[in-house]
Amino acid sequence: MNVLIIGSGAREHALAWAAAESDRVEVVFVAPGNGGTALMGGKVRNVPLKAVAIDELLAFARDNNVDLTIIGSEQPLELGIVDLFRSAGRHVVGPTQAAARLESSKVFSKEFMQRHSIPTAGYHVFRDFHSAASCFELPETLYPQVIKASGLCAGKGVFIALDRQEALKAIRELFEDRIFGDAADEVVIEDFLQGQEASVFVLTDGTCYRLFLPAQDHKRIGNGDTGKNTGGMGAYAPAPLVTPEVLQKVEERIIRPTLKGMRDEGYPYTGFLYVGLMIDKGEPSVVEYNARLGDPETQVVLPLVKSDFIAALQASVDGTLGEVPFEMHRKSAATVVIASGGYPDHYETGREITIAEEVAEMDNCLVFHAGTSCKEGRLTTAGGRVFSVTALGENLKESIDLAYLAVKKIGFEGAYYRTDIGAKAL
Ligand code: AMP
Ligand code: GLY
Repeated sequence: MNVLIIGSGAREHALAWAAAESDRVEVVFVAPGNGGTALMGGKVRNVPLKAVAIDELLAFARDNNVDLTIIGSEQPLELGIVDLFRSAGRHVVGPTQAAARLESSKVFSKEFMQRHSIPTAGYHVFRDFHSAASCFELPETLYPQVIKASGLCAGKGVFIALDRQEALKAIRELFEDRIFGDAADEVVIEDFLQGQEASVFVLTDGTCYRLFLPAQDHKRIGNGDTGKNTGGMGAYAPAPLVTPEVLQKVEERIIRPTLKGMRDEGYPYTGFLYVGLMIDKGEPSVVEYNARLGDPETQVVLPLVKSDFIAALQASVDGTLGEVPFEMHRKSAATVVIASGGYPDHYETGREITIAEEVAEMDNCLVFHAGTSCKEGRLTTAGGRVFSVTALGENLKESIDLAYLAVKKIGFEGAYYRTDIGAKAL
């Protein structure tokens, strides 16, 4: 079969790698892909179409006998790519536009959780500056307060305000300076949750679901979880924080009610569901849903899938997910992101990259590219997050050590990475 993967990050490189591993796959197209997917060779080919060019992507799928399309990033989901492909009779992994509102509208997702008694932070919705500001005039308001643009903001639409001044600044930027445009027409203000974060991903056909190993991201730029929020600087799995008891609560109180609620309301959820959790004293609540796999968590959870991943995806599309195996390796994985100096603020691109030859020979090590470009055999940086270097080990320590061994063999001017990925789980 032929597979099409849509997106351009390290997550999509990992998806392409997993698809190429499957015996049933002949060709893996990646649109638009990156320097890493360009260099894979064999079954894998880049297609110069943007992830948001959904009509062109449909035409490409038709003209190239694509049997299964996998949506990596959120923008095409919000544009309704799954509805479009399905209406043309094509198999696609992802939620419909209506179901993807669990990610694309925080107002929808908060109201949905409230309707279905799914644990999450208490909240209010505001549609203008003055009514939002009034909530910071109350003497009983406790800080921090969490302020979120409702729409998609590439992970940047969340402010944690430590006092009234910061809160007012955030809502001014959202409502008056309109830094995120229409995505902040509605703003959610919610209580701050204490605890530790973890990510649980499921693959679902709408009714049946399968779990990946729980992972933990590292969202801040600096060691010790300091500095600005980023798209994610590293991850590991399985996360010991998500004990079997916690996972059981997550399934009972969050995953099952979410899938049932979406069915009952008339927009069954299919594809990957990302449940971002805060776990406090063993009690999980939802920080956010995403309608796709996480990045960089995918780069650790996918290499730990033992079963044929593409067979499971096909079964999720056919509604037979309950009939295929979905087993995990009994190993650990860690991934370290190498970013361009300056990220998540201003950074330069076009820097020449060198990767020591022995990296390709390293067992249990996978170098996933994110922001790279490969032209005439020359590899250069092309984004903020440049690589996600994954290693597998018998335990977490082994996987972390191996990942850093490989990271040190990859170089470009201004390269930056955190040196404490996974440390808090050791
Ligand atoms: P989100 O885009 O909703 O995942 O938020 C980005 C990050 O902000 C999360 O990963 C958390 O670190 C933090 N965050 C969001 N909501 C809350 C909350 N209610 N309490 C504490 N931290 C939060
Ligand atoms: N790792 C966070 C995300 O993918 O949204």
